[in-house]
Amino acid sequence: MIPVNEPLIGEKEVEYVLDCLKTGWISSAGKYIQEFEEKWADYCGMKYGIAVSNGTTALETAVACIDLKHGEEVIMPTFTIISCAQAIIRNNNIPVLVDSEPRTWCMDVTKIEQKITPKTRAIMPVHIYGHPVDMDPIIDLAKKYNLIIIEDAAEAHGAEYKGKKCGSFGDISCFSFYANKIITTGEGGMLLTNNKEFVEKSRSFRNLCFKKEKRFYHTEMGCNFRLTNLQAAIGLAQLERIDELVEKKRWIGHAYNERLKDIPELIIPVEEPWAKNVYWMYGVVLNENTGTDAKEFSKRLRDRGIDTRPFFLGMHEQPVFHDMGLFKNGHYPVAEQLARQGLYLPSGMTLTQEQIEQVAQAVKNSLKNY
Ligand SMILES: Cc1ncc(COP(=O)(O)O)c(C=O)c1O
Repeated sequence: MIPVNEPLIGEKEVEYVLDCLKTGWISSAGKYIQEFEEKWADYCGMKYGIAVSNGTTALETAVACIDLKHGEEVIMPTFTIISCAQAIIRNNNIPVLVDSEPRTWCMDVTKIEQKITPKTRAIMPVHIYGHPVDMDPIIDLAKKYNLIIIEDAAEAHGAEYKGKKCGSFGDISCFSFYANKIITTGEGGMLLTNNKEFVEKSRSFRNLCFKKEKRFYHTEMGCNFRLTNLQAAIGLAQLERIDELVEKKRWIGHAYNERLKDIPELIIPVEEPWAKNVYWMYGVVLNENTGTDAKEFSKRLRDRGIDTRPFFLGMHEQPVFHDMGLFKNGHYPVAEQLARQGLYLPSGMTLTQEQIEQVAQAVKNSLKNY
């Protein structure tokens, strides 16, 4: 079976982790955390990094730090991971959904303004599968309506919008370093910001809101969302070769594009002229008139030794949110089509040209009319 993902762990990662083990710095203090925070912020073009336990907790911390009042609204795409909606709901705020646009699968920026109400306080764009969101219209809306941008760049390490790195556009941006991400710490995440106030708040929030001057005296509730030095050590080693990792993903993306571009049943990823797509995961969408859905297609590929993963199911189709009375009559046709017709192919760092050819052949053999 060709797996969907496999991380690339090298000698440097082992060396840095051994250093933590040998020196005893295995929890959330130690030199690797600060170095990883500083170097990741620097790589992305932001001033400050705040490492946390994963991408989900990065988003939750970000929403907690912008101090919304109960019931205020955050606009986000329906087509994303549940972490985004949960971060808003767990902070007693309301997610307001926007559909995807059909080319990049990212949120349709032309549909945001109509969702703005007097209660809207923030927009949460999410770069999907390595392709940037069209950020300029979001930045314009944020200025016009005085909104905060929380940018979710979990899937877009090294991706660029108009020559600037994803993760450098938000008032706060959030990352995941889960094992399938371009650089990984096993589990891990980070917030980036240029705003000193957000730095203070998020550092305190991730560490139970302990006070420096009076340690066990609390005026606010926080969480234990700390990253360990061990994880940061892996992250730092990965970051030292990020250019190579991003190039590998782009090579995989282009290799698939070349082999799959002429299949009429398939819609393949794009790279808009203003974008650098890092093809975090190589997604394909079946044309609706193909008569096959992603579930059936995935089964056919599995029978041929190819592992795949389904696309996101939109937030408006999640029973857990319907039970809370949210999104009940929402209809977002692009996200619904992506959820039913989309899947991603093996895209891991260790993929070889031979395996890509095998996958491409299996894709062709799995489609009736090819
Ligand atoms: C867009 C997006 N945001 C947030 C997350 C959450 O990250 P984590 O799995 O590290 O909690 C993910 C995870 O894959 C993601 O894809």
